[in-house]
Amino acid sequence: MVNSAGTVVVLLGSPGVGKGTQGVRLGRELGWAHVSTGDLLRAARRAGTPLGHEAQRYMDAGELVPDDVIIDLVREHLGGMDPGRGVVFDGFPRTVAQAEALDGVLAGEGRAVNATALLEAPEPVLFRRISGRRSSPGGRVYNVYFDPPERDGFCDDTGEPLIHRADDQPETVRTRLAVFREATAPLIGYYESRGLLVRVAAEGHIDQVYAALLAAVGE
Ligand code: AP5
Repeated sequence: MVNSAGTVVVLLGSPGVGKGTQGVRLGRELGWAHVSTGDLLRAARRAGTPLGHEAQRYMDAGELVPDDVIIDLVREHLGGMDPGRGVVFDGFPRTVAQAEALDGVLAGEGRAVNATALLEAPEPVLFRRISGRRSSPGGRVYNVYFDPPERDGFCDDTGEPLIHRADDQPETVRTRLAVFREATAPLIGYYESRGLLVRVAAEGHIDQVYAALLAAVGE
């Protein structure tokens, strides 16, 4: 894939596999927009909007927020962005209906998904990562075992207190993993059949995974 303006990369993978970690870094290092539907929904919840209120019960249960809500959210978010800027999607699309809607929105801007990176790691690794995760309200992700902040409990960038997500309890994580297998795994075939899927081993160190991801998407 050529490093061109307007490149679109989708990060696909189970909860805790590292989509947010790698998506933030791709955005920062390549100057791309990082669009995480999980972050957009959490921001809506913090702001107390009707959308945030509606999303809360699904998120707390580990279920997917309905497609029409998510598609409207992404459409609105992309509407304010320069289509010439690269973008990395993290946690979106999550269903075939969302992928089809994304294709439609991008086609309207004269672009398309260039690559979908499927990040893969075994379940015990995912549980360990999720149990140690702490997040800043701005979206930066830390891990008390693997990637701690300089000052315990606070974001290095903003100084804000770090959050332990409510949906990171083991029972909810089991639901989220099942939802991934049922609703999101069909996207593997969707993108594979279009020649857009690249698999990235995500078990190693964050830097190793990042290097593999860059190579996989051709940057
Ligand atoms: P969302 O926030 O997207 O959660 P998720 O997809 O379940 O993914 P996670 O955020 O849990 O994990 P991640 O892969 O980003 O891993 P991370 O980089 O944080 O969605 C939350 C909820 O919102 C959903 O359940 C749903 O209700 C709703 N939602 C969101 N999008 C939706 C959509 N499109 N449709 C419908 N509903 C939607 O890493 C995890 C931890 O591991 C961190 O602590 C990190 O520091 C650490 N780590 C990462 N990589 C490594 C590494 N290589 N080595 C060691 N540690 C690592």
